[in-house]
Amino acid sequence: MEEWEQYFSKNPAPGAYALACAQLKEFCERHANYCPIVLVTSGGTTVPLERNTVRFVDNFSAGTRGAASTEYFLDEGYAVIFLHRDKSVAPFMRHLHPGVLLDALEEQEGGRLALTQQHSAQVHPIWQSYQRVKKEKRLLWLNFTTLSDYLWLLRAATQCLQQHAPSSLLYLAAAVSDFYIPQDNISEHKIQSSSGPLTVTLELVPKMLSPLVSIWGPGLFVTSFKLETDGGMLIEKATAALRRYKHNLVIGNLLQTRREEVTLVTEGNSCLVRLSEQQKQDNVEIEKVIVQEVCSRHRNFISRQLQENNTAQ
Ligand code: PMT
Repeated sequence: MEEWEQYFSKNPAPGAYALACAQLKEFCERHANYCPIVLVTSGGTTVPLERNTVRFVDNFSAGTRGAASTEYFLDEGYAVIFLHRDKSVAPFMRHLHPGVLLDALEEQEGGRLALTQQHSAQVHPIWQSYQRVKKEKRLLWLNFTTLSDYLWLLRAATQCLQQHAPSSLLYLAAAVSDFYIPQDNISEHKIQSSSGPLTVTLELVPKMLSPLVSIWGPGLFVTSFKLETDGGMLIEKATAALRRYKHNLVIGNLLQTRREEVTLVTEGNSCLVRLSEQQKQDNVEIEKVIVQEVCSRHRNFISRQLQENNTAQ
């Protein structure tokens, strides 16, 4: 048994998982003949320390990259499976921060609250996009909290999309835990502080990109992200990931500068994408530039695959 297979040897949480699988199947079948489909993963996974979870190990990711990218994929005509951490940043809704919303409201005659003219003008195009996407049912929301939830859904979504290769795309922006506590070692109930200092041993999670590329989703266009904090090792690590997993594109980013620049790494080539001063002033989001670039590469990939298939026939 491969190391990653052990992770799937126990059953997923019943109910929610079966429902998600049915939704995935229906969504992919409905859209596959009409538009390309992208799986966007977003936000961080948690690793529970207790089965009845009070405490867990988490990471920094808020899901901004995934939520913003989802909007731009929708603009590009894709149907999007948005696999996100529960309560992380959400597409469309992210423009309406609750605190800001209170400042954006004013009292009308008769006591009714309405958006100020300025805010209404800002929100209107977002509301229109949201309503269009909702009407076309082009966005499937699936959520996870724990690493385990995420991995089960990642596998299910990839297997569904594999049937629609090469016009399906994976865009793996979630920050996935590299460490976990095996089920058998997790305390059933809240760990008591009266027992003294806590020592926890976290096991390594097998890199799921390996089965994802070669077993669950061969033929799909796979884009992964590589996060580092040390700029000196980013390109080297991104290139190593590309060679190891043999997928299509790695997008390298540094924790400190991830909102302004990323590097797109393919076999033998790396391309820095950085927002210009003008773009920053115009509030252009880097996800817009990234998604346009990924879509363009995906279109080339589809053309090449179709050509190869025609030549082979
Ligand atoms: O959410 P934001 O605040 O906007 O931040 C966005 C981001 C920085 C989280 C995003 O741009 C990003 O870099 N996401 C990937 C972070 C990450 O997990 O990097 P990594 O170097 O640990 O993993 C590299 C790849 O391996 C990832 O695509 C991941 O899907 C994959 N992986 C990770 C762990 C694991 N056990 N198996 C995997 O296959």
